[in-house]
Amino acid sequence: MTEGKKEDPTNGLTGRLIFTIAAAAFGSAFQHGYNTGVVNSPAALIRKWISETIDINQTAAVNGTLTVVGGADSPQITAIWSVIVSVFCVGGMIGGSIVGIVADRLGRKMGLIYNNIFVVLAVLCECSAKWLQSYQLIIIGRFFIGLNSGLNAGLVPVYLNEVSPANLKGAVGTVYQFVITLSIMISQLLSMESVLGTEGGWPLLFGLTLVPAIIQLITFPICPESPKHILKTTGNELQAKQVLVWLRGTLDVHGEMEAMKAEHEADKNASRVTLRELTGNPSLRMPLIICVALMIAQQFSGINAVMYFSTKIFTMAGLSDAASQQATLGVGAMNVIMTFVSLVVIEKAGRKTLLLAGFAGMLVSTLLITMSLVINIAFLTYLSVAGTLLFVLFFSIGPGSIPWFITSELFSVAARPTATGVAVVVNWTANFIVGIGFLPLTGLMGSYVFLVFAFSLALFTVFIWLKVPETKGRTIEEISAMFRQASYQ
Ligand code: GLC
Repeated sequence: MTEGKKEDPTNGLTGRLIFTIAAAAFGSAFQHGYNTGVVNSPAALIRKWISETIDINQTAAVNGTLTVVGGADSPQITAIWSVIVSVFCVGGMIGGSIVGIVADRLGRKMGLIYNNIFVVLAVLCECSAKWLQSYQLIIIGRFFIGLNSGLNAGLVPVYLNEVSPANLKGAVGTVYQFVITLSIMISQLLSMESVLGTEGGWPLLFGLTLVPAIIQLITFPICPESPKHILKTTGNELQAKQVLVWLRGTLDVHGEMEAMKAEHEADKNASRVTLRELTGNPSLRMPLIICVALMIAQQFSGINAVMYFSTKIFTMAGLSDAASQQATLGVGAMNVIMTFVSLVVIEKAGRKTLLLAGFAGMLVSTLLITMSLVINIAFLTYLSVAGTLLFVLFFSIGPGSIPWFITSELFSVAARPTATGVAVVVNWTANFIVGIGFLPLTGLMGSYVFLVFAFSLALFTVFIWLKVPETKGRTIEEISAMFRQASYQ
């Protein structure tokens, strides 16, 4: 959007900026993606281990023979596994709700650096769980890594936005989603049976999430705090300017500095918009409804049912364990490739078009997946893979990345932090509902489970068609004026 002018002759994409973006985004978005995907392929293996360690699976002597009371597929283990998968989102919700406080008190950079403490705690719990024979430690660890990821989901986009020159903000904004998809794929690759998806390997699989944290702790301290944050908290113009000079690789940062100061002044005058004002003011209510609806639409599309459970879905459709894991990897690769394509086409095709095409395409794909699950014949087994690949293809051309950055396009600076906070929390909450509900729902609905997502997809496609404006190529002033006008009618 048009905030500030950009005059830097190099267009601002310097080696230092790239390094800064990589140091911030890789270490952080990685946790969000990797820990989304890491529970997928090794699920059966870990469920088996849990069933062997807990009380309900204590063997009971019946007539002198030993009878296993529970079992890896029992409802109890399903419930425990659903908690392990989705407690990650509870952490995400709480992390998301404290983004504003952390970003202001600790700063964006120090907030991200300290956030790695939660990674260390998570790894300690998850890696020692097997050794200490306690699945509860996995739950606690998943909660910590969720807390870390929720904070990242708010802090990284804010930091990336604030260190980037105006002409690169859109492209840099999508880096977050790209790293998520990349790290989901890495987790799927590493968790294959031939790599670390083994009885001895899975604790290490959880532990590897420490690697990007270590890389971030080595690289990110060299990078600067966000110049906007410096200006806002200390008023120190010289220091903010030094940061800009470092990032842009030129002394000629006058224009950007002036724009930043003007924004700072405006920010001082415009009080921060509260949640009450956001919901009470009719011209702010509609954009908020849109952001929230898009977050719910993104999660209730069922994307994480696939990201968390695709291996199980494929085995339900009749594929062998090894083939299911390979298909899961294919799904991850499709997600990465198409997210990259979307980054390239997004400015040309427009947000609304990509959202509509994406959600409508996902709707058709859910019907294909349902067909393949219901009609269980050999030929249709492959339809489940094709349907799922299509499902992810359509997700990643728009519904994957657009909801994450549209809040910045629909709200001006004063309302943005509050609106972003609401959107992040809603996203993780909806993610939690899918994570905790999918397996029990599958127990109830069996092969028809994807129809729930089809219903939601149909509903939200109509909503987007009717209510979401195209933001491509429009300034925040134009967009705000449009919502103001609409609220008078
Ligand atoms: C988006 C979603 C996230 C999902 C990912 C899959 O980032 O917010 O929940 O796991 O896409 O690519």
